[in-house]
Amino acid sequence: MNGYPDVRLRRLRRTPALRAMLGQPLPGPERFMWPVFVREGEGMAESIASMPGQYRYSIDRLVEAVRPVLVSGVRSVLVFGLPDPAEKDPIGTAAADANGIVQRAVRALKQAFPDLLVFTDVCLCAYTTHGHCGSLGECDVDNDPTLGTLAQTAVSHVQAGADGVAPSAMMDGQVKAIRAALADSGHTDTILMSYSTKFASAMYGPFRDAEQSAPGKGDRQGYQAPYADLNQALRESELDVQEGADILMVKPALFYLDMIARIRAAHNLPLAVYNVSGEYAMHIAMAERGWGDLRAMVRESTTALVRAGADILISYWANRYEEMFVD
Ligand code: PBG
Ligand code: ZN
Repeated sequence: MNGYPDVRLRRLRRTPALRAMLGQPLPGPERFMWPVFVREGEGMAESIASMPGQYRYSIDRLVEAVRPVLVSGVRSVLVFGLPDPAEKDPIGTAAADANGIVQRAVRALKQAFPDLLVFTDVCLCAYTTHGHCGSLGECDVDNDPTLGTLAQTAVSHVQAGADGVAPSAMMDGQVKAIRAALADSGHTDTILMSYSTKFASAMYGPFRDAEQSAPGKGDRQGYQAPYADLNQALRESELDVQEGADILMVKPALFYLDMIARIRAAHNLPLAVYNVSGEYAMHIAMAERGWGDLRAMVRESTTALVRAGADILISYWANRYEEMFVD
């Protein structure tokens, strides 16, 4: 009775009803967070060539775009701003402007949809003239002077009404600095979702095109985690727990299912995974060539993320939830 022919696994997958009963369900829309790009202007929804289905919206159009997404059941967004290039400087000062593009977008979103969970990306790369995630020192980003700007930026987002802030600069001590600044400004309820295990990845290309935030010179390997040294990547998440993060994150997601599973097992914090721009674009590129079925690929890869242990799916499929996940 221990094997074939008595044991036949095909019995358990014989019909759609059996497969549905035994399989893990597709994640519901409430697990998704939609990353959105917001730019200056009015009436703008500028398509992003490397990310079909995603746009750089002016604030008015962003509000219109969020409305049907909310109806589909997705209840949160992660806001990325594209400031006017004239506002960029070497240290990214404009990121903390109370009337900056992100701050105004947050106010507009919370006013239109008080129950929408609005998270913001906290980084400086879209605000620095050189495109690095902080101010430049002699040979790389200068860690400690960058912390103050990041903390001020986070506080300005919260003052505009953000429910959560998500620091992505990968500076040492950024979570501690932001948590302290939030406490000092009386924001004890703000959720701090750390981009805790964020790798220096080749999969961010389409995003940098969307955000116009590629570093002018050099790369981000001096601050983002090396994918070839997984112990460091695990320590990044451990330290962020100690520094006061509420939610951890693994980014990118699909190449790092091992990290998702390990961080899920090692901590009891909620775990977000960022299914990044390159992961989005590669599915689309394959489908466009007729080499794969988009919906099937998206369902399979998203299921893998949940199976590995993701609680929150930061995903560009979020605004396409019905198209991808509803039969
Ligand atoms: C900026 C930032 C990046 C992403 C999120 N925040 C790019 C980078 O670090 O170069 C990538 C998101 C994506 O690829 O979808 N700190
Ligand atoms: Zn950055």
